[in-house]
Amino acid sequence: MQTIQQYISEHKDRFINELIDLLKIPSISADTAYSQDVLNTADAVMDSLKKAGCDTIELCETPGYPIVYGEKIIDKNLPTVLVYGHYDVQPADPIDLWTSPPFEPVIKKTDIHPEGAIFARGACDDKGQMYMHVKALEYMTTTGNLPCNVKFMIEGEEEVGSESLAWFVPRNKKKLANDVILISDTGMIANDIPSITTGLRGLSYVEVEITGPNRDLHSGLYGGAVANPINILSKMIASLHDENNHITIPGFYDKVEELSKEERNEMAKAPFSISAYKDALNINDVYGENGYTTNERNSIRPTLDVNGIWGGYTGEGAKTVIASKAYAKISMRLVPNQNWEEITELFKNHFENIAPDSVTVKVTPHHGGQGYVTPTNSVGYQAASKAYNETFGVLPIPQRSGGSIPIVALFEQELKSKTILMGFGLNSDAIHSPDEHFGIWNYLKGIETIPYFYKYFTELH
Ligand code: BES
Ligand code: MN
Ligand code: MN
Repeated sequence: MQTIQQYISEHKDRFINELIDLLKIPSISADTAYSQDVLNTADAVMDSLKKAGCDTIELCETPGYPIVYGEKIIDKNLPTVLVYGHYDVQPADPIDLWTSPPFEPVIKKTDIHPEGAIFARGACDDKGQMYMHVKALEYMTTTGNLPCNVKFMIEGEEEVGSESLAWFVPRNKKKLANDVILISDTGMIANDIPSITTGLRGLSYVEVEITGPNRDLHSGLYGGAVANPINILSKMIASLHDENNHITIPGFYDKVEELSKEERNEMAKAPFSISAYKDALNINDVYGENGYTTNERNSIRPTLDVNGIWGGYTGEGAKTVIASKAYAKISMRLVPNQNWEEITELFKNHFENIAPDSVTVKVTPHHGGQGYVTPTNSVGYQAASKAYNETFGVLPIPQRSGGSIPIVALFEQELKSKTILMGFGLNSDAIHSPDEHFGIWNYLKGIETIPYFYKYFTELH
C-alpha cells in the first residue's frame, strides 16, 4: 500500500500546479465586478472534487454564491467527516503594495519558508488550505486508504459573512449529517511548533455615520461655532476605551467568560517571544488591555477596533472645510458567551447616547457571528492530535485564535457536531494583506497530516 509520503513525493509538482491554477481566478466575493470569477472558481472546485473521487457532486444554489457539495459514502455504519472551506478570497487592495500581482501566483523563498511559498491572494486563506483536503482525499480514494465517509461543503461567501451558508445549513441538515467537522482555515504557531486551534472569536461589525450641518462649510466662517462631525466622531471613538484600555460600552463585559488562573497558566506555556513579535511588526512596544498578556489580548479578550475612518477633504494640498458628515467602520471581536446581536445593540445604544445634541448619529450593523471553543477531550481533537504527532513528530499545542469563522458556531447549533480546526498557515503568511503567501512545506504537510486524522478518527470513534 502506497503511503501518503510516497504519494506526495510522486505527485507534489502537480499538487502545486493545480493550486496555482485555482489561485489565478480572482474569486473576490466582496466585489460584484468579480462575480463571474467567483462562479468559475466554484466550478473549478467541483471539478477537483470529482477528480479526487467524490461520487456525488452538486453545485447547490443559494440566494448568493453557490455552495460546492461533494461526498463519498463508503459504508453507512462508518463515521462521516464533513470538510468545510471557502473558495472566495479577500479583495487584493492595496494592490500597489504587492511585490507580484495577486492573481499571478509565483513561488518565492522567504526566511520562514526556505522551501518556497506561493504568493497569491487566497494562497493561505483559504484556497491553499482547502485544496489540501481535496488532495488528501485524492490520495485516500486512489490508494484505497479512505477509512470512513466524507462530505465536502465549500462556500463562496466566507469573507463577506457566510449569509448564504447560514441559509443553506438549516435547510440541509440531513445531507450534512456528520460525526465531526474538519476545517483548515486557521494557523499554527510555527512549523516546528504545531498547534490546533481550539477557539475562534465572535464578531460584531458596524458602520457609523455622524451628520453635523446640512452641507460642507467654510472652516473660517463657521469653525468654532458648529459641531465638526469629524472632531465629534474622533472624540466619540476615543471615549470607547478608558485609560486601562477597557471598553467603556455599558454591559459589554457582562457575559465575558473569565478564564481561571489555571487555564491562563496553561495558555502561557505556549512558546511565544515578545521580542520576535515586536520585531516582526517593527513596533517598539505592544499595546492593549491592562492586566492581560499579548496572547490573552488577542484570543480570550474582546476588542473594539476602527477598521476605517473617513470624511472631509483628503485630496492633495489643503482645503479649509468643515465636512457635513464623518464615517467609520468598527469591528468588535467577541469571546464565548457574548452574544453578537446583543453586543451590536449595546454598541448602538451607547454610541447614540454619547453623541452631543449638535450632531445626529446613524449606526448600521453589518454582519456578525458567535465565538467558538472546542474541547480538547473530544474524539476529534484526540484524532487530530495523534495525526500531528505522526507527521510533525511532536504533540500539537491547543491554542485559541483571535480570528473569526462565524459559521462554526452555527454548525454546532444546527448539526450538533464539534469542529476541529487543523490550520497549517502562519501568522506571517499575510492573509488579507498584500503579499499573502502559503509555504509549500505547509501545503504538503497539511496534505500529509489530513489522512492520519481520518485514520485515527475512525479508529477512535
Ligand atoms: N480564515 C479566516 C479566519 C482566521 C484566520 C481565523 C486565521 C483564525 C486564524 C477567515 O477567512 C476570516 O478572515 N474571517 C473574518 C471574519 C469574516 C466574517 C469576514 C475575520 O476573522 O475577520
Ligand atoms: Mn478563511
Ligand atoms: Mn479571511
